[in-house]
Amino acid sequence: MNPSEFAENSTVQRCDWWQMARFGLFIHWGVYAVPARGEWVMYQEHFSNQEYARLADQFCPTRYCPADWVAVARDAGMKYAVLTTRHHDGFCLFDSAVSDFTAPKTAAKRDLVAEFAEACHRAGMRLGFYYSLEDWRFPGQLPHLPVKEVGNYSPMVEQAHGQIRELCTNYGPLDILWLDGAFPPGIWRANELIGMVRSLQPNILVNDRSGAPGDFATPENDVTPHARPWEACYTMNDTWGYAANDNNYKSAGAILRLLVSCVAHGGNFLLNVGPDAAGSFPPQAVEILRQIGDWMRVNKESIYGAGRSPVVAPAIGWTTRVGRKVFLQVQRWPGATVALAWCGSRVKSARLLATGQSATIEQKEDRVWLHGFPEAPPDPSMAVIELTFDEEPRSSVPGYS
Ligand code: GLC
Repeated sequence: MNPSEFAENSTVQRCDWWQMARFGLFIHWGVYAVPARGEWVMYQEHFSNQEYARLADQFCPTRYCPADWVAVARDAGMKYAVLTTRHHDGFCLFDSAVSDFTAPKTAAKRDLVAEFAEACHRAGMRLGFYYSLEDWRFPGQLPHLPVKEVGNYSPMVEQAHGQIRELCTNYGPLDILWLDGAFPPGIWRANELIGMVRSLQPNILVNDRSGAPGDFATPENDVTPHARPWEACYTMNDTWGYAANDNNYKSAGAILRLLVSCVAHGGNFLLNVGPDAAGSFPPQAVEILRQIGDWMRVNKESIYGAGRSPVVAPAIGWTTRVGRKVFLQVQRWPGATVALAWCGSRVKSARLLATGQSATIEQKEDRVWLHGFPEAPPDPSMAVIELTFDEEPRSSVPGYS
């Protein structure tokens, strides 16, 4: 086996649990929650470092209870959670020997990452750390200048290496390192960095934003399927970090359709919440996650461990597959009879996950009719029909898989 094959295989094994999980929570939280205009406020409003540092004096998250966050995520059917341990502003939610701009050394006086990690470990929630390589407080970052005009980036790079070592050492087992902000590109000694991370956390998954390929691709606010493992991250409204004025939340139904479209294309879905400065999830987000949980409790079999199906139903909705089962996530309910085509193997049974109601199956070669379903869908946002095939589901179209 040559080294590149080995790398590929170990990525596949590392990704096993993650591809079973399919659905995770992203949390963007930091001192930017104080002005409450999103996580890019320092850049957007050209704060000086001194001005920005004062936000940390007001960042005192009295309501922060990560066990509650984790419970909300678990009830929504999410299997992993990724917290911004530091964003582009350089403020660390964790204790760091190489920076004073941290939660434990400012008003919060707590290692917020330690508490989060403990809550995840306790609840069996897989744990991910987001970390921004760039830090806007260093020369050339605010605004972004080309490398040749700045010269020496090594203090910023050294700090990032040191802090990533701390994150991989001080908080127990870590499942995901979600790097971001490799600006300027090419200065981060990414291969060395990832090597260090893997030596400290051998089973960790690393994303693709450091300049090294990592284990998985990360399309942002977009469902772009990749040949390699991938995860689409999405905002629930229009902002990652808390923005008091952003009430443009997607409905639970719209979010579930995004989740399903990721799974139908073989990808994961990471849904973001931006807690406020006190440490509470916005009430709209909590309500949306509650509704998502209601759907997941009924239809989760069509998500966990599911992937692309060779049998498709584009006029009706997405299809996902687990072993001999294909799940139709019906967005356009056709009525009491559901017709399917190009089924290359025989359908044994069909039932609605919401009610358990079965259909009578009529199959003529590769055309299938499911008779006896209700005229109206049991769940207007997206009812799921489970089809069980008598062998591997196949398409009757040669070469279509
Ligand atoms: C971008 C943004 C950042 C956000 C991230 C999430 O890189 O700079 O604010 O954290 O995407 O994918």
